[in-house]
Amino acid sequence: MIQRIEQHELMVMLTLHEYLDTCACAGDLASLITVIAEQAVPIRNAFLTNQSYATSRNVSGEQQAAMDTWSDGHLTEVYRSSGLVAALGSEEQKDIVNFPDATGRYAVVMDPLDGSSLIQTNLAVGTIIGIFDDGTVMQKGKNLKAALYMIYGPMTTLTLTVGEGVAIFAMNEQDEYLLLDGDVRMPEGNLYASGGLKKDWKDRHARFIDTVEQRGFKLRYSGSFVADFHQVLKYGGFYCYPALEGKPEGKLRLLFEAYPIGFIAAQAGGAISDGARNLLDVEPASLHQRTPIYVGSSGVIELMEGILSG
Ligand code: AHG
Ligand code: MN
Ligand code: MN
Repeated sequence: MIQRIEQHELMVMLTLHEYLDTCACAGDLASLITVIAEQAVPIRNAFLTNQSYATSRNVSGEQQAAMDTWSDGHLTEVYRSSGLVAALGSEEQKDIVNFPDATGRYAVVMDPLDGSSLIQTNLAVGTIIGIFDDGTVMQKGKNLKAALYMIYGPMTTLTLTVGEGVAIFAMNEQDEYLLLDGDVRMPEGNLYASGGLKKDWKDRHARFIDTVEQRGFKLRYSGSFVADFHQVLKYGGFYCYPALEGKPEGKLRLLFEAYPIGFIAAQAGGAISDGARNLLDVEPASLHQRTPIYVGSSGVIELMEGILSG
């Protein structure tokens, strides 16, 4: 077990490279994480010339923003040229992409641009990545070997787990990631974000929201899952996009959003559920499968499951 870096030892802010050196993860996994994290620079630079909404729609039937397709294409080429990725499942591509020339055996699941409806508002959006190590995309989230997300906000930050807790980095003027927090623990907290129209909420979901509001929870919802989740990771509470009347599967995707964020939440002492069970234990039936999501502090997720199960 790698000894946990004591906060006081981090007086000199570790770089991403130095942090990965302290982890037990394989050298080529560290290389893949590094090359993905570095793409925050070209992705961030692409916002200015990719403000529009493309006319195309993705396989989930959602209008694709120019940034969706740009970041998807850019990251796909990065995986191909890395030689480390054997297969990719992307929110923006209908089928699994195989890289037959790869020497590595990693499988990536990704939401290349999360929160894309906010691109023109300059609110924080991000990229969500999960990494398996046996070349297989279609498998349970609990088998992930690494998960990370970059947020393009006032700072460019990287939140990462390789299964040894959660670390948060911020990018400096030299485009280098410096460690902000080497052992993130999700407090209970009192923030909540709930997606979907209130008129479409099911009774038990509405009852859960009433219960937490009576306990003093306050609403913080931006339209960017990755940004709303990051707030929950730091302050506690929960994000949810529930099953809705007429949309029993909710909106978010199991592989590209729930699995990576759920792995990070669990590694920080939190939990992820579809309202009844741990989503990391759910076997995916299809690549673009949607799922109701409740993710946040373990106490409130337990409260939610009690109310939703009646
Ligand atoms: P994406 O931009 O990858 O499609 O994700 C958008 C998701 C999530 O980020 C956000 O919380 C939710 O959709 C917002 O949905 P509504 O617009 O229905 O609130
Ligand atoms: Mn998304
Ligand atoms: Mn997306």
